[in-house]
Formats: sequence, C-alpha cells, structure tokens
Amino acid sequence: MTKNQQNLSYLKPIKDSLGRPLKDLRISVMDRCNFRCTYCMPEEKYHSKFKFLPSKQRLPFEHILRIAKNFVSLGVDKIRITGGEPLLRVNLADLIGDLSRVDGIRDIALTTNGVLLAKYASELKAAGLNRVTVSLDSIDPNEFKTMTGGRGSLDRVLAGIEEAQVARLNNIKVNAVIKRGSNDQKILELVEHFRSTPIVLRFIEYMDVGNINHWKKSETVPSREIVKLVGAKWPLEGVEPNYEGEVASRYRFKDGKGELGFISSVTKPFCGSCSRARLSSDGKLYNCLFASTGKDVKPWLAEGLTDHEIQQRIYSIWSERADRYSELRSLNLTEVGKQKVEMYYIGG
Ligand code: GTP
Ligand code: 5AD
Ligand code: SF4
Ligand code: SF4
Repeated sequence: MTKNQQNLSYLKPIKDSLGRPLKDLRISVMDRCNFRCTYCMPEEKYHSKFKFLPSKQRLPFEHILRIAKNFVSLGVDKIRITGGEPLLRVNLADLIGDLSRVDGIRDIALTTNGVLLAKYASELKAAGLNRVTVSLDSIDPNEFKTMTGGRGSLDRVLAGIEEAQVARLNNIKVNAVIKRGSNDQKILELVEHFRSTPIVLRFIEYMDVGNINHWKKSETVPSREIVKLVGAKWPLEGVEPNYEGEVASRYRFKDGKGELGFISSVTKPFCGSCSRARLSSDGKLYNCLFASTGKDVKPWLAEGLTDHEIQQRIYSIWSERADRYSELRSLNLTEVGKQKVEMYYIGG
C-alpha cells in the first residue's frame, strides 16, 4: 500500500497554520434545548413556532462515528458531546457506547443542562461516558428559573448532579456563566454550595458568541473580579493546569476545601493553545466557536468517500486553520457586526 492509500495517521497530531495540534473534537448532537437561557436562546426568538433543524437533517450516529474515527486517526483523543441539550437526542447512550469502543479515544465527556441527567446518568456511565459537565448559573431557585427563561428547575438539575455522583461519573464539573446585572449578586452562595464537595465549579466569562445575545463587554464579569470576591472570603491559590491547553485556570481553597476554575476567554484569550474542532448536529465542521461558516461533511458521506479521502479533507481544513477570534477581539481587531454561529447550535 502506498502512503496515498493508507490512512494519514502517520501525520498525527496534525497541526494548523499556527502550529496548533488537533486534539479535541466537540460534537453537537442536537440543536434544540429544553431551556431558554436569556443569553443563548431567548424565548422571544426561540418560541414554539421557531424552525429548528428537521430531524432528518441531523447527522445519524453511524456518520458521527465515522467522522469521529477519522478525527482519531489524525490525533484526536478527546471527545465532548454537546448540544443544544444533548440528552434530548434519542438513544444517546448508543453513540457513547460506539465511541467508547474506538481505539485512541481516552476521554469522552458530556456538557448538559442537567435537567434530564438523573434519568440518564447510570445508562450513560454504563455505555462508557467518562465525565459530565453541568451548566448551572445560579443557586437561587428564582434566579435560576429566570436565567433559563422560566423553564429550568434547580432541584431537578441538582438531582441530576447527585445521580451523576451515584453513577460514579468522575470529575464532575459545574459551569456557571456570570452576566453582570443578571446573576452577579449570589456568586458566594454558589461557591459555598459546591465548596467541600469533589465537584469543581468553573466560572465562564460571558462571551460574544453568536449575534442573538447582543453582547456588551460591560456585561462580562472579569474572572479576576470573582477571584477577588471569593478569595476575600475563602483564600485561594493558583494550581498548575491538569493538561497542556486546559481552558480553565485552576485555583484551590487554601483550607483544602476543593477547587474552582475560571474560563477567561474575554480577558485572557487562550487561542494560542486551541486544539478544538467542532461538529454541528447537521454535520458541519467549524474551526472556531466564533466562526461564520463550516464545512459540510454530509456530502462526503453521501458521495461514499473512503476513510483516506475523509482524512485528507479534514487535514486540508485543519492545516489551513488560522482562527483566533478571542485574541483578535482583545486587540480590537474583530469585524464589527460579523455573523457568527449561535452557541446552542455549535455547542460551546
Ligand atoms: P475540560 O475537558 O473539563 O477541561 O473541559 P473544557 O473546559 O474543555 O470544556 P467545557 O465544555 O467545559 O468548556 C466550558 C466552556 O468554556 C464552554 O462552554 C465555552 O463557553 C468555553 N470554551 C470552551 N472551549 C472554548 C474555546 O475553544 N474558545 C472559547 N472562546 N471558549 C471556549
Ligand atoms: N458566553 C459564555 N458561555 C456561554 N454559554 C452559552 N452562551 C454563552 C456565552 N455567551 C455556556 C452555557 C454552557 C456552555 C455550553 O456554554 O452556559 O455552560
Ligand atoms: Fe441554556 Fe445551554 Fe440550552 Fe443554551 S443550550 S439555552 S445555554 S441550557
Ligand atoms: Fe479556539 Fe476560536 Fe475559542 Fe480562540 S476563540 S480559543 S480559536 S474556539
């Protein structure tokens, strides 16, 4: 066999035009969500008549698996399943099971709003899911309800987290987006709730993903502000990253009562080590969370491309990649009014 016919795994991990390796694939399996977070899917726009993708346009599991395997051949070893809300996808555990049997994948994680987690945690764990991250922006039941557009039940999400612990899903994380004027008044209560537990709470700076949230920089609460607020009550110290290119900066409570994370994409962009490709639920590949367009993989599958040809396509997309939106934003070099894909569609 010539090099031309083999798979391209001898090139792994492939590097983009800025020298960044391709290591993670984030797969959105569903563009719908059962919440209407005000900064992501405001009810005014995503009402009962809104046209989401018809289900036949969703990439079937066999195609997701085929694409994922070819990414793995090129160096990806970490998969994150996202949405919208991924637990709305019927039989998701089947996909997790198939992915868990792929040689070369060392970590399969899921990002969820947690409301269906109590129902599925043990099934997902049995299928091979390693980790779960739950989005939870407030520990106050009324504020939580308001943030989720009137649809979220804090009790159900907390029950989901508990069930994930019972199912022994490791390394559970909670992601909280703090938006100034919305949920910036009860940060200490949120910290207190997860302090002294093995769950790692991470604060995400509110970002200008998509266009629908009409982002204003003044609504972003910089991580350093939260570090200061929390540190004044419970002294903190920095911790080394768990792995190279970790998105969150880690801190631990000096009294040994656990750990916090800070994802500071606005005030401290981390594009320099961004090794993430994203696949949307309708089969488009995106090089950046802030991209405008993606490359459709559906024709590759419809035309019957071989694995080698699929890898060539991925290789060519990744090797041309020069995206570094957050860095450009911090230099005021992003195009004003740029059309970007929405968070619920690309999956965070
Ligand atoms: P671990 O594997 O547990 O370290 O998780 P992760 O931080 O890679 O993934 P997670 O989905 O928990 O990321 C949390 C949030 O960070 C996402 O929902 C995004 O808001 C943000 N984020 C993750 N990756 C990127 C990225 O590449 N660029 C930007 N700007 N934000 C990102
Ligand atoms: N900025 C930062 N994080 C966001 N998320 C959704 N929209 C934004 C935004 N504009 C978060 C969700 C969830 C994860 C998938 O992305 O709250 O935690
Ligand atoms: Fe909220 Fe996540 Fe659903 Fe968006 S996708 S509405 S952030 S739960
Ligand atoms: Fe990666 Fe784009 Fe986020 Fe930068 S802005 S870290 S390139 S996804």
